[in-house]
Amino acid sequence: MNYEFSERLQKLPPYLFVRIEQMIAEKRKQGVDIIDFGIGDPDLPTPQPIVDTLCQEAGRPGNQNYSSSQGEKSLRDAIAKWYGVRFGVEVDPDTEVCVTLGSKEAIFNISQAFVNCGETIVAPSPGYPVYSGASTLFNEAKCVQVPLQEKKGWLLDVDDCPKGAKMLYANYPNNPTGATCDVAYLKKVQDWCRDNNTIFCYDNAYSEMCFDGYMAPSALQAGKDCIEFGSFSKTFNMTGWRLGYAVGNKDLIAGLKKCKGQIDSGAPIFVQKAGITGLELYKESGKLPEIIQRNMEVYSERRSVLVEGLRKLGLEVVMPKATFYVWAKTGMGSAEFAEKMLDVGVVCTPGTGFGPTVDGFVRFAVTKPVDRIREALTRMEKLF
Ligand SMILES: Cc1ncc(COP(=O)(O)O)c(C=O)c1O
Repeated sequence: MNYEFSERLQKLPPYLFVRIEQMIAEKRKQGVDIIDFGIGDPDLPTPQPIVDTLCQEAGRPGNQNYSSSQGEKSLRDAIAKWYGVRFGVEVDPDTEVCVTLGSKEAIFNISQAFVNCGETIVAPSPGYPVYSGASTLFNEAKCVQVPLQEKKGWLLDVDDCPKGAKMLYANYPNNPTGATCDVAYLKKVQDWCRDNNTIFCYDNAYSEMCFDGYMAPSALQAGKDCIEFGSFSKTFNMTGWRLGYAVGNKDLIAGLKKCKGQIDSGAPIFVQKAGITGLELYKESGKLPEIIQRNMEVYSERRSVLVEGLRKLGLEVVMPKATFYVWAKTGMGSAEFAEKMLDVGVVCTPGTGFGPTVDGFVRFAVTKPVDRIREALTRMEKLF
């Protein structure tokens, strides 16, 4: 029997980090000591109060059953309350909030819920690969990748976007560039989407990874003609726990819930209860909880060491105000640069993995301690 992938699946390129993992495994087999700044997976632990709640809740019989695909009422209430404390936005936990299995699935499922075959999805280039990959291709939709430009601060310019698109994805704080935006920008994008009958999907997965006093806004501060995706992954170092949320317009949330109802049965209840503990760490508006602030100080030091080191090597780098990514201009092709780096055991991600328009850039995730960053910079000195 010949087990052939569906035409839809055949159209999908291999997921970026799967390819990079294979290259790393090859090098490790050759005995190379790898310093991996590739995937954006925090090396810091989940805060202890969250782990403690998980341990207590996992043993309770009522928590071992199915949840619901829209999530537990108690977590939806906590997310709604958190939106009030963190962003000053009032949301209805029953109609405007959906718990998700990390934000990745919701970013994919929202297009399943609203985009028809042949319709257009706008995705930034560079951008998180799911927008132009699974979200578009599994739907047999058409993706228009709109270039983000360095001279525009890597902000998606709606004047560059095609009218008549069904859906548009934007993401700030931005992966991979580290760029940030303000509420006025989000209002401009939301107004444009409303005027053009385009669904505004805002990916706010890095909303809490901010430095130097910057606090990322929510798209809902600009209005509710949007759906916003958030995540526990980066905020609380919980990538493996698979917990996120979608908040926004009630019709968009209803579509997401209907889609998810056919696909998943919700995050484990004990994981959701632990998530509530995380959100309850937030006590004051405009301020990160101490435990998150301490994590951000660790990333901040690493960011500074790497940015300054790369600048000394002659690379052009902007000090990011958010995310744990450093986006560097390489002066040569992205893939060529990444391959040279791999020769000295240092992994970074070629910009072209995030979109076709950023050849000449690479992304470093500062998920390694300062001594390893210094070691990587020493190795890189040999290359330049
Ligand atoms: C921009 C962006 N959005 C969404 C995600 C998905 O994160 P998760 O599914 O862990 O919430 C990521 C993960 O790296 C990301 O970079």
